[in-house]
Amino acid sequence: MKQDIVILAAGKGSRMKSALSKVLHPIGGMPMIRRVLMTANRLNDVTLHLVVGHQGEQVVANCQEFSTNIVWQDNPQGTGDALRRVASDLSSTGSTLTLYGDVPLIKQSTLERMQASGNDNTLVLLTTFLDNPTGYGRIVRDDNQVVTAIVEHKDATIEQHQIKEVNTGILLAPNQFLLGWLDRLENNNAQSEYYLTDIISMASQDGVDIVTVHPESVAEVTGVNDRIQLSWLEREYQQEQAQLLMSQGLTLLDPSRFDLRGYLTFGIDCSIDINCIIEGDVVLGDNVQIGANCHLKNCTIGDGTHIYNNSLIEDSLLADQCVIGPFARLRPGSQLGSQAKIGNFVETKKAIIGTGSKVNHLSYVGDTVMGEGVNVGAGTITCNYDGVNKSQTRIGDDVFVGSNTSLVAPVTIQDGATIAAGSTITKSVEKNQLAFARARQSNKNDWPRPVKKS
Ligand code: UD1
Ligand code: CA
Repeated sequence: MKQDIVILAAGKGSRMKSALSKVLHPIGGMPMIRRVLMTANRLNDVTLHLVVGHQGEQVVANCQEFSTNIVWQDNPQGTGDALRRVASDLSSTGSTLTLYGDVPLIKQSTLERMQASGNDNTLVLLTTFLDNPTGYGRIVRDDNQVVTAIVEHKDATIEQHQIKEVNTGILLAPNQFLLGWLDRLENNNAQSEYYLTDIISMASQDGVDIVTVHPESVAEVTGVNDRIQLSWLEREYQQEQAQLLMSQGLTLLDPSRFDLRGYLTFGIDCSIDINCIIEGDVVLGDNVQIGANCHLKNCTIGDGTHIYNNSLIEDSLLADQCVIGPFARLRPGSQLGSQAKIGNFVETKKAIIGTGSKVNHLSYVGDTVMGEGVNVGAGTITCNYDGVNKSQTRIGDDVFVGSNTSLVAPVTIQDGATIAAGSTITKSVEKNQLAFARARQSNKNDWPRPVKKS
């Protein structure tokens, strides 16, 4: 069945106290509104309509690649008013699903269950049961348990306040009736708003079947109004991701201290210690071990690679059996061959490091192509920037770079060359040469130390 999906995002979100539109605040690293759009987009045969208002320019700018019909709701006058502004764009057949930009964790499977329950003569409500239903619209049923209306909390009687079944706001309505119902909405209620929920009693009177579907969890239908709710939902999301990954065979030493802000795929027997952040697209091979407090963003890590505590890896490619950290920082464009080692307090950037090469301590390697079996001593720096331009350092195979060396790029060190510790290398070094570029040491015999003047 053809499906219009209307996503409401015109609300003010004033309780966020933010210059950023509420629906752009992220859950699991992704703006809430994008989560909703992605979920909606996965349903079959949909036309997306996005209702924006307050801070709408930001919202639109962040949803460019979704082909949505943007509808502006200036001076918002309620959820019914929002739907009315879309009405002329809705199909005359099929049905309309209403979603909320600030209810980000709604599941595709739940929406599909709603679709399966709906048809041209049936309205589907997503409802749930709350111990404390204060603030929510209540589901009113007759003696036969048939839904006859939704009353908003502020308009409800004392008896109706006892009803624990609440409107989540998400509903699916047949378009052949919906357009007429929206026309008939009035705002003579406690909030002087046009309530979308008033269509329920109209449906009841028009003999349209009203059925209810329930979400799998409360998190699915929880909206975000302030940063406390945002943090609660974030934890719910993270816990669910952690459970899913563990069920797929990933070891998480503590699932409550793990954050996924993107997508993680992994091979067999990988393990992640506490407080790690996985961001963007991260791919782990088999037997990858990740220590505590690591942040991995958009990277691929080969089999058997071991990343020790407190390492940051971004936009990088690591082959098998590498050893990283602790306290390593691999910046974008780092590519490591197998068994490469990047040790503590080493920073790499746009650096190709060959098989078995080691940069073990306190170094900066940037804009560099390094061959295999190279050993870079502690404190070595590639001087890749002259204040204006970036230049390349080329290092061949089996090179030995002594500690505390400055390699002033552009410079080439050919295979088998050795650089004496403390050198400042400004000229290329040929194959198997020893380069020695520092002041020679001179020693003076029996040198008298200065004495304090009296
Ligand atoms: C609404 C429902 C209520 C339900 C509750 C669930 C109505 C009348 N009431 O109440 O039954 O229990 O959600 O949270 O529908 N929005 C617009 N334009 C508007 C008004 C709202 O885009 O003119 C958007 C808001 O940005 C928000 C959503 O719609 O994302 C819900 O609006 P809100 O004012 O929070 O509705 P509630 O009063 O909570
Ligand atoms: Ca609300």
